[in-house]
Amino acid sequence: MSGRVGESQSWRPEEYGANARFVADYGIDLIDDLNPLPGQRIVDIGCGDGYLSARIKARGCDVWGLDPSREMLAAAQAQGIHVIHADIADFTTDLRFNGAFSNAALHWVKDQQAALRNIRAMLEPGARFAGELGGHGNVAAIAVAANAVLGEFGIDGAALMPWRFPTVRAFAAMLQTAGFTVEAIKLTPRPTILPADMKAWLKTFCDWALAALPEEKRDDYLDRVEALLRPVLCDDAGVWTADYVRLRFLAAAV
Ligand code: BEZ
Repeated sequence: MSGRVGESQSWRPEEYGANARFVADYGIDLIDDLNPLPGQRIVDIGCGDGYLSARIKARGCDVWGLDPSREMLAAAQAQGIHVIHADIADFTTDLRFNGAFSNAALHWVKDQQAALRNIRAMLEPGARFAGELGGHGNVAAIAVAANAVLGEFGIDGAALMPWRFPTVRAFAAMLQTAGFTVEAIKLTPRPTILPADMKAWLKTFCDWALAALPEEKRDDYLDRVEALLRPVLCDDAGVWTADYVRLRFLAAAV
């Protein structure tokens, strides 16, 4: 195996479990799209704490989870998942897999074409790849607010933002270039009720923005982003709904 790992974001498994468990819950039925069979070796790209990897393992598969976060991988390993500490855009291995799975991870990868090429190289011909990521327009209001307020602090948020939310056309072309046949691909708006408030979401997913600010300015930043978003994403009962848009696909290695 070889590769380099450079994380754009830090993850804390306990915080993720409290504020973002819905991310994996929404991905459970993606396992049915993959339809992994007992005995198959499956790689979970961006496995995080292994919540979904463990469900694939429960179907009798030999599951390997790949992730750039050592903290999250430790949680996956504790559930009996083989782990690979790597950045998928910069990773090669002699291991070969019968299927690949990825939920809510590929939008963190800047070079998605390289990631898809490396995933294809890990797969046997005919192996399926089922995945979901944020698609074009995902968390658009949040992204605009997060960047606008960074601008108020003199920081170029667009240059820092690690997210890549592709269109169907761009992602399908990337899959084909990487050596996949696209069997299904669809963009679906999915307004998502948050388990806590917007600040909790920002603390979990916008570490890249908070880390660019001096510690004493972070609360002010969170207050200002939340104030911008309240009129559009918070209802009169105080419930926050994030403007998620998902891109889901099923592909097969040529
Ligand atoms: C998502 O899963 O859609 C997502 C994750 C992190 C940042 C933005 C969106």
